[in-house]
Amino acid sequence: PHVLVLAGGLSYEREVSLRSGRRVADALRASGIDVTMHDADAALLPLLQADPPDAVVIALHGATGEDGSLRGVLDLCGIPYVGCDARASRLAWDKPSAKAVLRESGIPTPDWVALPHDRFSELGAVAVLDRIVSRLDLPLMVKPAQGGSGLGGTVVRSSADLPAAMVGCFAYHATALVERYVNGMDVAVSVVDQGSGPEALPAVEIVPRDGVYDYAARYTAGLTTWHVPARLDPAVAAHVAEVAVAAHRALGLRDLSRVDLIVDEDGTPHVLEVNVSPGMTETSLLPLAVQASGLEFGKLWATLTERAAA
Ligand code: DAL
Ligand code: MG
Repeated sequence: PHVLVLAGGLSYEREVSLRSGRRVADALRASGIDVTMHDADAALLPLLQADPPDAVVIALHGATGEDGSLRGVLDLCGIPYVGCDARASRLAWDKPSAKAVLRESGIPTPDWVALPHDRFSELGAVAVLDRIVSRLDLPLMVKPAQGGSGLGGTVVRSSADLPAAMVGCFAYHATALVERYVNGMDVAVSVVDQGSGPEALPAVEIVPRDGVYDYAARYTAGLTTWHVPARLDPAVAAHVAEVAVAAHRALGLRDLSRVDLIVDEDGTPHVLEVNVSPGMTETSLLPLAVQASGLEFGKLWATLTERAAA
């Protein structure tokens, strides 16, 4: 089949996306698949119409790739793609909406408050923040309600640091998600469906050198150490895998996703979010899990694109 890999886009994660796209395209080529790569720009629509590919890989991160809009365009053109549909993508992309669905489904996710920027300014920032702190308690995690790669996210350990964290967050998105910060082990579980239903790959334990898994720690070699499989008790690891697959299903996802969780001291997993277009770079987590599971990255992508095209 002829596969079109879409990468780039005008999001804050453009550079990450280009790295993801190149890696997937190279891996597909090495598996003997005919691949082209393209940006998500104005030239894309005419290209899709003039020379429709058999399947598309959306290696775009950020709004266009993850908010469902591009998937809607591909649906309109009748072009199949790897991954979930527009509706599920939009749901997973909006963290407060996704968390509400997870909680409804009985999947633990940290308590949260979603705060739009206009309410923050109108009601008097101090009163709003005081109310949030008394409801959720410190420490807190502040992050954009929609976004990725840790951009705009801050751990807040003292009330005095909250205003700056909120302002930093609003630079990336008009709604902030303020979450109770759960202490524990940071893990990422990739979920893939090669044709017999969604299955969890080995959990990746994330240990950032400076304690915070921010943008630099994610994409600079040497700033983060991983343990695959995560150093969890086997019974806890099995439960984490079940919860990850349950989260993937609850959001109506398809083909692949990466579920980010914190496993607390009692071994309870708390789902932070589910990524519909997980990073595929040299320092990304899904490729590490694929390698640890004994699968071959290029073969996995060949299977996923062949299934999409079928
Ligand atoms: N948003 C980045 C690409 C990730 O989830 O891996
Ligand atoms: Mg994310």
